[in-house]
Amino acid sequence: MNTTLITGASTGIGEAFARRLAALGRNVFLVARSEDKLVALCSELGRINSIRAQYVAMDLSKPESPARLFEETERRGLAIDMLINNAGFGSMGEFTKLDLARELEMIDLNVKALVDLTCRFLLPMRARKQGTIINVASTAGFQPVPFMATYAATKAFVLSFSEALWEENRPYGVHVMALCPGTTETNFFEAARIKKPPIRVAQTPEDVVDTAMRGLARRKSHIVSGWANLLMIESERLVPRSFVARVTGRLLRPHFGDGTKETAGTKDRKD
Ligand SMILES: NC(=O)c1ccc[n+]([C@@H]2O[C@H](COP(=O)([O-])OP(=O)(O)OC[C@H]3O[C@@H](n4cnc5c(N)ncnc54)[C@H](OP(=O)(O)O)[C@@H]3O)[C@@H](O)[C@H]2O)c1
Repeated sequence: MNTTLITGASTGIGEAFARRLAALGRNVFLVARSEDKLVALCSELGRINSIRAQYVAMDLSKPESPARLFEETERRGLAIDMLINNAGFGSMGEFTKLDLARELEMIDLNVKALVDLTCRFLLPMRARKQGTIINVASTAGFQPVPFMATYAATKAFVLSFSEALWEENRPYGVHVMALCPGTTETNFFEAARIKKPPIRVAQTPEDVVDTAMRGLARRKSHIVSGWANLLMIESERLVPRSFVARVTGRLLRPHFGDGTKETAGTKDRKD
């Protein structure tokens, strides 16, 4: 049975993908940790669309989870022809003050699980010469982001990895795309344990899914959601990366810095 696998489907962008694809008549297989939310969503999607909605509750940051998830799709006889690697979380604050275990867990989820799942599901897609993988990156992946150092680096990885796989897999009929949302109205900031986004929230999860659908239709290697985000990223290309890091740092320091002022020794060293 042809099915779309969506990770992080219990809320936010993943849930919006599940709703959209089910409305388009696609069977969905949803993954997240919150079983209660997945149960409710699957029963709603199955009821209002003539599709099969299934779930498995799983913590994808655990090293054994991607293999278990792949085996589960095989056990259920699902042919995953679309994979949306969306599960992810962020953290904000000075790197030295953040919980190291959580930073490493973020790398496990945002990077390791995504690479593992991509590899496992890509092979059968290539054999069938048909398939789609959407990896949810972020506008944070285009530049260093002080006070979100690990998160932005995970998303830079996702962006670069996906664009490379886009080219590698074109001859095999498999479309790999990085989706790059900017600040979006979801539980992301709550999950990152901060009260409110330091940057204005401009988009809804549905806007982000609209962008993804446009990107798929145009077989793009990556797509940025929202014109303002695109403009910001394009303009950043024109200036040195150190300048972008400094400006972003100045924007976020009042929210997350410890009040330490830049000193002459730390300031304005040319690259
Ligand atoms: N919102 C933004 O501003 C924004 C901007 C750019 C990119 N993004 C990216 O968009 C993606 C979706 O985030 P969102 O904004 O929709 O945030 P969200 O509402 O917090 O959704 C995150 C999803 O990931 C799941 N998840 C978290 N940890 C997990 C784990 N260890 N194992 C399995 N599932 C896990 C969550 O479900 P459970 O808690 O039930 O496990 C939830 O379904 C993320 O990759 C994020 O980095 C978000």
